[in-house]
Amino acid sequence: MPQWPQVFIVFVVFCGGCFLESSVAHGAVDLSASDTKTVKRLPQAIIIGVKKGGTRALLEYLRLHPNISAPGPEVHFFDRYHDRGLNWYRGSKCVDEVSGRFLAVCGEQTAAKNRRPKSNAADDDGEQMTIEKTPCYFVKREVPARIHRMSSAIKLIVVVRDPSTRAISDYTQSFSKGRTKRSFDEMLFHDGKEKINERWSAVRIGMYAKHLSKWLPYFPLEQIHFVNGEELINNPVNEMQAVERFLGLPSFISDDHFNFNATKGFPCVKRRHTDTDFRCLGATKGRTHPSLSARTLQLLNQFYARHNKLFYEMTGRDFGWPEKL
Ligand code: A3P
Repeated sequence: MPQWPQVFIVFVVFCGGCFLESSVAHGAVDLSASDTKTVKRLPQAIIIGVKKGGTRALLEYLRLHPNISAPGPEVHFFDRYHDRGLNWYRGSKCVDEVSGRFLAVCGEQTAAKNRRPKSNAADDDGEQMTIEKTPCYFVKREVPARIHRMSSAIKLIVVVRDPSTRAISDYTQSFSKGRTKRSFDEMLFHDGKEKINERWSAVRIGMYAKHLSKWLPYFPLEQIHFVNGEELINNPVNEMQAVERFLGLPSFISDDHFNFNATKGFPCVKRRHTDTDFRCLGATKGRTHPSLSARTLQLLNQFYARHNKLFYEMTGRDFGWPEKL
C-alpha cells in the first residue's frame, strides 16, 4: 500500500464538490493560487476509466462515504478543457455548465460531517477527499502527462471489466443513443469477413494493456488501483472496501448500504441509514444487451485473449476473462 503523499488541508469552505481547500501542500501541484488562506481544492484521486466498466456505480458508491466529496457530472478537464487552466478545474464544477444550476454536491459539507463514522475519530480530522471521474481519461494519450504535471502523487482508479462485455455495453449505448443503426457484427467485422476492426472505439478501449502502458511512465503501479467491474456487481462491499483501503479512508461502506435488486439485475444503494428505500442507478445503466452469435463471441474473446494476458502480466492480477455468463 503506497503512502499517502503530503496533502495537508486546514479547512474546506462552502463547496465540497468543486474542489475547495485551504493551505495546501500537494505533491507536484501548481500552488500559485494557494497563497491566500482559502483556495479551491484539486482532486486527490481520479477515476480515470474505463468507459462502461461500471464507473458511475463506483462513483455513487464512493459518494456514500462521508469523507468523499465528488461532483456528479464528468469533468473532462484533462481532455477537453485543459486550456482553461487549473483555476477553472478547481472552481467551475459547482455550477452545471448546461443548466447553470448549482450541483447537488455543493454545500453538502455540513451534512457529510454529521454522517462521519464515529469509530474512526482518531484518523478522521474532519477532512474530505475530493475525487472526480472522467472515464475517457484512460485512453487519451495526452492525459497521463497532464495529470502528472498537476500532481505526481495523485491516486488513480480504473474499473476494468471483461473487454468483450464492455464492447457490447459500449455498442448498446451508441445504438440506444442513435449514434449507429448498424448491427454489432457489422461494426465489429471488416466487410462482412471475420477480421475484427481494431479501430472501432468499442474494440480499442478494451485493449487495456496498450492504454496502461501510456500511464506507467508517469505513475507507478502502486498508485493505480484496479476495480474488478464484475465483482463490483456481484460483491460490491468487497470491492469498495479495497477502494477505501487504497484511498486511505476509514472503513465505512458495508453490507447495509447495498441490496441486490432482482428486477434491475444490479445492486442498489441506501444513501443514509434513515432511508427506507434502496435507490438504483438510472435506466441508462444496466441496459439489455443484444444477443450475439456464439461465433461472434468466440472471435471477440479470442481477439482479446492476448491483450488480457498482457494486462494480467502488467498488473500482476488475473481477472479471469472471459467472464462465465
Ligand atoms: P450496461 O448498461 O451495459 O449493463 P459506466 O457507468 O462506466 O458507463 O458503466 C455502465 C455499466 O455499469 C453498466 O453497463 C452495468 O453493467 C455496470 N454496473 C455496475 N454496477 C451497476 C449498478 N449498480 N447498476 C447499474 N449498472 C451497473
